[in-house]
Amino acid sequence: MKTYIVGNWKLNFNVGESSIYLHKLQKKIPICRNVEVVIAPSTIALQPLSLQIDRHKMKLAAQNAFYRDYGAFTGETSFTQLRGVVDYCIIGHSERRYIFDEDDKMIEKKVAAAVRNKITPILCIGETESERAFGETADVIRDQLLGGLRDVSEEDIDKVIIAYEPVWAISSTKAAKYASPYDVADAIKLIRSTIEELYDKKVAEELPVLFGGSVNPSNAGGYLTVPGVNGLLMGGSSLILSEFVDIIDIAKRVKS
Ligand code: 13P
Repeated sequence: MKTYIVGNWKLNFNVGESSIYLHKLQKKIPICRNVEVVIAPSTIALQPLSLQIDRHKMKLAAQNAFYRDYGAFTGETSFTQLRGVVDYCIIGHSERRYIFDEDDKMIEKKVAAAVRNKITPILCIGETESERAFGETADVIRDQLLGGLRDVSEEDIDKVIIAYEPVWAISSTKAAKYASPYDVADAIKLIRSTIEELYDKKVAEELPVLFGGSVNPSNAGGYLTVPGVNGLLMGGSSLILSEFVDIIDIAKRVKS
């Protein structure tokens, strides 16, 4: 199975900065069949970067899109508009859930719209700090999976990627707390057993599951060796070219 290294740039880099970063990144990394490198710039940079990107080396992801294909939805971008521009779309990121109030119903529709438009959804799930403190991690993971995948048929589930990002481990403004490999291993097991319940054993084994939350070059190798982890989704480290390149190298070594 491929290893996915996904950089979520969030609200950073203007179009010019995004283009320069991409230019440098493409020079630094060779084509590698086992590692799928994906960058997720701001929506405004997607179109120009889609003309610049070497798709043999890496792919583009959107950070968000709306589930309706067209109509009176001021300010939104549809998956239909992103078709041919990106290969992936991050959906249900905790920043969308908690800052923009996206609920499982909205996320379910976005996942379905992505699949319908042949864009691979990277469905993010994960518990908050207080949910973890109250022992609700397993329930949250289960509920978010059931919600997000409600409209995904057996036929389409192989077009979905799951990213486990515990909200408490995402480095936003406060000092990062790191998830231990044991935390990650437990969550991944739960994700796969829930997927088995919803679909079957083969699907559960083959579904790519990524980890995200303060990943950096020092801990990437550790997370990638947790059984069942098929890649990493990172924010901060993907903004620093040398760190992102290091993590791609680590992925190549660990998974070769
Ligand atoms: P950090 O790697 O900065 O913790 O961000 C993780 C994340 O939210 C990626 O989507």
